[in-house]
Amino acid sequence: MKKPILFLVSTLILVLCNNCSQHKSEMDKFVDNLLKQMTVEEKIGQLNLLPIGFDVTGPRLSENVEQKIKDGLVGGVFNTFTPNAVRKLQEIAVNQTRLKIPLIFGYDVIHGHKTIFPVPLGMSATWDTLLIERCATAAADEASADGLHWTFSPMVDIVRDPRWGRVSESAGEDAFLGSEIAKAFVRGYEQGDLSKQNTIMSCVKHFALYGASEAGRDYNTVDMSRIRMYNEYLPPYKAAVEIGVSSVMTSFNEIDGIPASGNKWLLTELLRNNWNFGGFVVTDYSAIMEMENHGSGDKAKVSEMSINAGVDMDMVSEYFVDELLSLIKEGKVKEQTIDVACRRILEAKYKLGLFADPYRGLSDKRAETQILNKEKLALSKEAAVKSITLLKNDNNILPLDASKKIAFIGDLVKDQRNLTGNWSGAGDYKDAVSLWMALEKQFGENKFFYSKGCNIIDDVELSAELNKYGTQITIDTKSPQQLINEAVQTAMKADVIVAVLGESFGMSGEAASRSNIELPSNQQALLKALKTTGKPVVLVLMNGRPLALQWEHNNIDAILETWFAGTMAGEAIADILFGKANPSGKITMSFPRNTGQIPVYYNYKHTGRPFSQNEKYTSKYLDVSNEPLYHFGHGLSYTQFSYSDIQLSDTVMKENGNITASVTLTNTGKTAGEEIVQLYIRDIVGSITRPVKELKGFKKIMLQPGESQKVEFIITQDLLKFYNSDLEYVAEQGEFHIFIGGSSTTDNKSRFILK
Ligand code: NOJ
Repeated sequence: MKKPILFLVSTLILVLCNNCSQHKSEMDKFVDNLLKQMTVEEKIGQLNLLPIGFDVTGPRLSENVEQKIKDGLVGGVFNTFTPNAVRKLQEIAVNQTRLKIPLIFGYDVIHGHKTIFPVPLGMSATWDTLLIERCATAAADEASADGLHWTFSPMVDIVRDPRWGRVSESAGEDAFLGSEIAKAFVRGYEQGDLSKQNTIMSCVKHFALYGASEAGRDYNTVDMSRIRMYNEYLPPYKAAVEIGVSSVMTSFNEIDGIPASGNKWLLTELLRNNWNFGGFVVTDYSAIMEMENHGSGDKAKVSEMSINAGVDMDMVSEYFVDELLSLIKEGKVKEQTIDVACRRILEAKYKLGLFADPYRGLSDKRAETQILNKEKLALSKEAAVKSITLLKNDNNILPLDASKKIAFIGDLVKDQRNLTGNWSGAGDYKDAVSLWMALEKQFGENKFFYSKGCNIIDDVELSAELNKYGTQITIDTKSPQQLINEAVQTAMKADVIVAVLGESFGMSGEAASRSNIELPSNQQALLKALKTTGKPVVLVLMNGRPLALQWEHNNIDAILETWFAGTMAGEAIADILFGKANPSGKITMSFPRNTGQIPVYYNYKHTGRPFSQNEKYTSKYLDVSNEPLYHFGHGLSYTQFSYSDIQLSDTVMKENGNITASVTLTNTGKTAGEEIVQLYIRDIVGSITRPVKELKGFKKIMLQPGESQKVEFIITQDLLKFYNSDLEYVAEQGEFHIFIGGSSTTDNKSRFILK
């Protein structure tokens, strides 16, 4: 018995030691000592983050950057990796600079490093925070082996406008779920201990409100009330800070007329003083420079604003390096401000263990054994399976019966290029398994019919634009009509048609906003032609945002949303199509009926004139319903679940008391399946108006056919709190309604009073 206890005690000491004051004071002593030796120029150099580009053969070094590193003018670099490339640059920093301060290496490891997981919007559809944490840990393992120390993830911007291409990088529209997912990413990357060589620092972004850019146009203006900000948009960033995220990235947008990268209220009052953030703040790409375009002042002025607002590291602009010294001389910036910023960056390097081992983590052997290994690929497949969301399934057309004749139609059936989605890190799409590859592996060649049917898009100008950033669209030499004719002929031979359609990877992501989020018109034409065959049609979608699918919903038998599902996409989709796996994803962003409905989200507020069928002067459109096509939290399964009425432990919650709400969930179908049980709460009367409902809990439950399970939620007063008009975080007495069910539309309801 002694040994395990000893082991436990020593582990405890080790864990505690990482945060203990002795450890901290050692870091303080080390950093104090280093700072004393540094010139102001060297301190400013630490605040400089430079990109190093790629050429086709991999990362390359820029002569200029090498010189700047030697001159002590660089604190970190990004966009370069591999043990060799990192070692080469790090050697310059630790052998050829005066103080031998190691560089920090960052990169956008967004949904995997080389093993790619589904795009974050797809990952969020799993509602599986443990799975997301495991994926982040796996990404950190691969990235650190490749020499990286720092990822620019998670992006936790709340999003309500699917025209914005970057919704694919988000966890959707809800602050509660977004906060849980933000924490999972941070835990996964950092594991609470950056001295472990297989961890990397995380960076929560884009602080703040970037997801609310007007009209869904990237980099556009944001304007928002404090009430909305505090209640609906800030919680995920705050959650990341509370769980210990190491760095925060500013956003490109302005807040109350001041760009985030120069916004002292945001970066100092809120982030540092209210939230006690102890890590460092980095700007987004050239964001300080862009403040000139915003109209905030000239180069010197925006540099002054930015450092005085609380930015520690300048990504790309090099404005700090160019301007800070003279700003200090002019008395516009205090040297102490530079010391504070530099200290934060040196502390991050210390915590990563870079002073002890500048080559921490990187190793050819680790890269070889850890990257794209069996476990990572299995995890990628698991994440893909769990992200796939069944939006519609009339007459149980899915799962497919492999003994039937099936025609697979669409450019994306055989596609590998797009499966890894946008921001796919260092992932190589050639590692991705296409749907067709998976079908051939499982069922052999020539088992199913195939026809291309259409290009992803026919628009020549748009394809040229998209192909500038890597070929993703090839336009067939055959005419669109010829492609459709061939597809219809192929479809006529089959019992069931599976159309695999959607977007190319570049149609979502950064700088990829769309003003019309329907399927491209040529794909719609193909679907309409397939529909005329009279055969059942299954639509498999690959895309990075909610699409407007009204026609498809009205006319197609089944719709399976597979997002851009990553390296193992094809296998995951095949398993779901043929019933080897049961879909369990639920959408985290509402799917509108048409683009004009945007923004449409589940936790809206009632107006004074809520919609009523028989009255003219109520809040509505003349030409479309107020309801989205698919609601937040929606997703079907091959089995069915029934919910009992809600049982409450009490109908009165006393101050600082709790109430337990429970339901019995039963799998009433014939297949084992997972259900995401969702808890929503509505505050009936408030000192400020309250949303019609808000997600306040969720649990993912696996049940065998016929099996039942009691699912409990503890409702604490914290769950009832919101920011009132004085921005105090309060729970107000009165009546609350609670809802527990399988989507945000559930009417399984109960009520209690807070006294
Ligand atoms: C700009 C993007 O907005 C940000 O998300 C990303 O991390 C940086 N570029 C670095 O690549």
